[in-house]
Amino acid sequence: MKLNEMLQETTAFIKSKGVGTIDFGMILGSGLGELAEEIEEAIVIPYDKIPFFPTSTVVGHAGQLVYGTLSGKKVLAMQGRFHFYEGHSMQTVTYPVRVMAALGAHSVVVTNACGGVNESFAPGDLMLITDHINFTGQNPLIGPNDEEMGPRFPDMSEAYTKAYREMAKAAATSLDVELKEGVYMGYSGPTYETPAEIRMSRVMGADAVGMSTVPEVIVAAHSGLKVLGISCITNLAAGMQANLNHEEVVETTERVKQTFKSLIKETLSLL
Ligand code: HPA
Repeated sequence: MKLNEMLQETTAFIKSKGVGTIDFGMILGSGLGELAEEIEEAIVIPYDKIPFFPTSTVVGHAGQLVYGTLSGKKVLAMQGRFHFYEGHSMQTVTYPVRVMAALGAHSVVVTNACGGVNESFAPGDLMLITDHINFTGQNPLIGPNDEEMGPRFPDMSEAYTKAYREMAKAAATSLDVELKEGVYMGYSGPTYETPAEIRMSRVMGADAVGMSTVPEVIVAAHSGLKVLGISCITNLAAGMQANLNHEEVVETTERVKQTFKSLIKETLSLL
């Protein structure tokens, strides 16, 4: 089945549930999905009801779309995302971004939990993503290109919209929240990296590493969507602390989620 036919079926279903215009798509990462609970007049659609959506399997991900108003903006939020390491194709991982674009969103807010590589970062820091390094060995745009969806060779020079980064910094200042900035390097996972890989990542220019975000932002760029990316540094990357585990990731997001939510809401109100 062709992508645009699938999108027609998916968007028709989502609209039939009462979803109207959308300004911002939002992808809420591990432990950060609670923000969707603040969406007003919410319409909730579980992924397993949506045509061509797989079901999300990761702990800490609810697996539903939430539509409504947040900070005065019409948003469609994903509470939980699809990861390449779950065995989904890159096309499946990024399908929701296609859906957001097809529903008329002009922008996406992408969030994640990730490991800090920059030695000045600490667990609990929030990081504005300035750019990324695609280290997954994959690209969701591999294959025939549909010119109606976007260009064959998308420009990634400003994948993370500069004006949005300025707004996020202004929001952080007004809330008195410290906001780090840096480059996110996307691995496939599901293993955490080795200490040697983290040393390599640092030399290559990464400030943080994680297992998501990069595919979605590539498809956002292809679709002409503006992007705001915010990471929660949940731990220091391999070799920089004793060991890594998913519990710590969840604990840290739990600890900083109030600040995270305030920052996103304040930024949205400025956008
Ligand atoms: N590496 C990769 N992904 C992650 C990490 C990490 O250290 N922490 C949270 N997600």
